[in-house]
Amino acid sequence: MTSPSTAEVEQSGSDRGSRTAALLAPAGVIPVCRLRSPSEAHPLADALVAGGLPLVEVTLRTPDALNGLEAIAGRSDITVGAGTVRTPQQLRDAVAASARFVVSPCLTDALAETAHELDVPFLPGVATGSEIQRAVDAGFPIVKFFPAESCGGLAALSALAEPFSDVRFVPTGGIDVRTAATYLDHPSVLAVGGSWMLPEPLRAAGDWAAVRDLIAAATTLARPQVTA
Ligand code: 3PG
Repeated sequence: MTSPSTAEVEQSGSDRGSRTAALLAPAGVIPVCRLRSPSEAHPLADALVAGGLPLVEVTLRTPDALNGLEAIAGRSDITVGAGTVRTPQQLRDAVAASARFVVSPCLTDALAETAHELDVPFLPGVATGSEIQRAVDAGFPIVKFFPAESCGGLAALSALAEPFSDVRFVPTGGIDVRTAATYLDHPSVLAVGGSWMLPEPLRAAGDWAAVRDLIAAATTLARPQVTA
């Protein structure tokens, strides 16, 4: 494959950034789910829709995650993406399963190339200044700050946002409903990701009404008015 020119990377980065922002910013919160089994797909989607947050990132951390993702993608009332995507093959599999966006805990040359080739909204994971610049250079102006709380939380994000004022962040990792609100107050934060509203014990117990209520509580968080 021929490498894109710098101008092409910048143009496509800005287009993809706008599409990513349009997809994720209205929700403000990205529910992250490690599906216990594909049979959770529809009750999960029903709870997200009923709770008023019809968006979910399904992590590829369980053997059948792609089947669950594909089942959710077959519905017209919810937007589903793939998370924990670390290799080009996983990225291809996620897009083949109809993921509308892709989230990674990292960034490699191969991932960047494949995301450009497939033209899919892609959030690379970053935790340092060098990683942020690498993501920008590769054409990804919106990044997942991960693992947010372990990497210094809002104080670290605020310090990084100063020199990287052109970057929009999606902090994820260890965030709860209280800390989510403080991240969302930051002008460089596009959205926050987290699994706090989808606790495994409630899902295992089949208490989808309680899950729906946690999702509804997440929708009351402030939504930042920023564009990529
Ligand atoms: C992720 O992969 O983004 C995180 O595992 C989600 O973080 P959380 O479970 O700590 O919210």
